[in-house]
Amino acid sequence: MRASSTDLPATIEISLSVNGRRHRLSVRPWDTLLDVLRDTLDLTGTKKGCDQGQCGACTVLVDGARINSCLALAVMKDGAEVTTVEGLAKDGELHPIQRAFITHDAFQCGYCTPGQICSAVALIAEGHAGTREEIREMMSGNLCRCGAYANIIDAIEQVMGEQAKGGARGASRPDERTAR
Ligand code: FES
Ligand code: FES
Repeated sequence: MRASSTDLPATIEISLSVNGRRHRLSVRPWDTLLDVLRDTLDLTGTKKGCDQGQCGACTVLVDGARINSCLALAVMKDGAEVTTVEGLAKDGELHPIQRAFITHDAFQCGYCTPGQICSAVALIAEGHAGTREEIREMMSGNLCRCGAYANIIDAIEQVMGEQAKGGARGASRPDERTAR
């Protein structure tokens, strides 16, 4: 006999570590990670743009990898370590990427910025981008309707340069930073 939708439990208990803090949460089977972050945990730094995986505004780090949180069901991330833009600063000090975005004026309205910053942190940790063109390509999942792309790439390039010299905190993996 086929299961009907009424067989789904109304809520499911999950555990998420968000920005280094463990949460036990009761979520509905269809709740996205984005909605749980914003509506349940009140972490509204992560933005909802398209809600369809097209814009990257909802980018967060899950176990160190960047994902579109609007496309992930919260129940699928049970036990995961999540880092949002709110978790990047440490001990009152902005993450190097956050500082570089300010230095390079890499935003206008700012709506895409949390997603851009999380994506940039992961891109640097991935270590695959070496040129501006590669940065542009590997950031192509993050759209900016204000067209701040050149300044965003300037900011990422600066931090990559600092990392190459061994001086930037951005050299560490996002999940390692979360664990501190
Ligand atoms: S809100 Fe998730 S990709 Fe646009
Ligand atoms: S700064 Fe406005 S959408 Fe990117």
